[in-house]
Amino acid sequence: MSKFVDRVFSGVQPTGNLHLGNYLGAIKKFVAMQASHQCVYCVVDMHALTAWQDPTELAANTREVTAAFIAAGIDPKAHIVFNQSQVAEHAELAWIFNCVARMGWMNRMTQFKEKAGKDRENASVGLFAYPTLMAADILLYKATHVPVGDDQKQHLELTRDIAAKFNNDFGEQLERLGHGEQFFPMTEPLIEGPATRIMSLRDGSKKMSKSDASDLSRINLTDDADAIAKKIRKAKTDPAPLPDNVDDLAARPEADNLVGIYAALAETAKEQVIGEYGGREFSAFKPALADLAVDKLSPVNAEMRRLTDDPATVDATLREGAARAREIAAATMAEVRDIVGFIRG
Ligand code: TYM
Repeated sequence: MSKFVDRVFSGVQPTGNLHLGNYLGAIKKFVAMQASHQCVYCVVDMHALTAWQDPTELAANTREVTAAFIAAGIDPKAHIVFNQSQVAEHAELAWIFNCVARMGWMNRMTQFKEKAGKDRENASVGLFAYPTLMAADILLYKATHVPVGDDQKQHLELTRDIAAKFNNDFGEQLERLGHGEQFFPMTEPLIEGPATRIMSLRDGSKKMSKSDASDLSRINLTDDADAIAKKIRKAKTDPAPLPDNVDDLAARPEADNLVGIYAALAETAKEQVIGEYGGREFSAFKPALADLAVDKLSPVNAEMRRLTDDPATVDATLREGAARAREIAAATMAEVRDIVGFIRG
């Protein structure tokens, strides 16, 4: 049996335009994990800073992600919701991990390559070191499970590599201090279900993204019913009706994406959706999808708006969450300081 308690950690960047991919790929899963796990959910404002953020917008976006968490059904009293920068131990452990991770590992990170683009010389050092901060987020809480979308898979593999190298490099010290062989757990990524990679509504080969220039490419969590319906009506499709078999979706990215969105919203499987809509035209499927999306997202949207209208309450929630997060983080960091040989007075 593992010595680690089952604990979930995950984070979302406050970089604006929270969308259906963030909701179905991450936030909706965060909600589901609460019944069975102790959960720590973080608005990663320090990660956001790896690209330029207007300070006023960063604060507003931090409150908006917090509001989305709560509106979606995360209970900040039973679990922990906070913003990363209020718990200084994240930065402290990230520094130690900067000294554990190897340049070769970091150079393989595809997200850095995508985000830095051609102008790599001009990317921030923070953008390059981003994954070590992410490993620190997770391991500070010795989290055993991390629900994320598919695009975070490589970062979670790196987190395991960092944990393993730390456990190994400091093996003798861990024995001496009575920690056994494993100080940090081998965190399990949770990347499953029909919505691990929601694609753009305008291009089935591109991920739905906050930064896409076309607002029609994504459903924002702040979109009203009319906007949601319009974006689904205008979503790119091919001319054929929906197939009778799920396997036939593989060659039809836009159809596959819409069926996946329907399945995730309805909390069912793609097979089920194809069972109901296989052979039907998009002119029949799209209105059903729009009704379902409006039905599921409108209450979240309304609650988000109510919460963002009351920033003082949101800030108090973050403050209380940070105080509880700090207790766990401080205990881990005290152990880490002893393990690496830092003197503490
Ligand atoms: P971020 O803020 O880009 O996205 C938040 C979550 O949404 C998921 N996601 C998607 N899922 C399905 N389809 C999509 N099109 C889609 N777009 C985004 C992401 O996979 C993510 O789960 N590095 C992280 C934040 C982070 C973190 C962590 C996550 C920082 N520290 C520790 C887990 C654990 C990020 O940039 O997510």
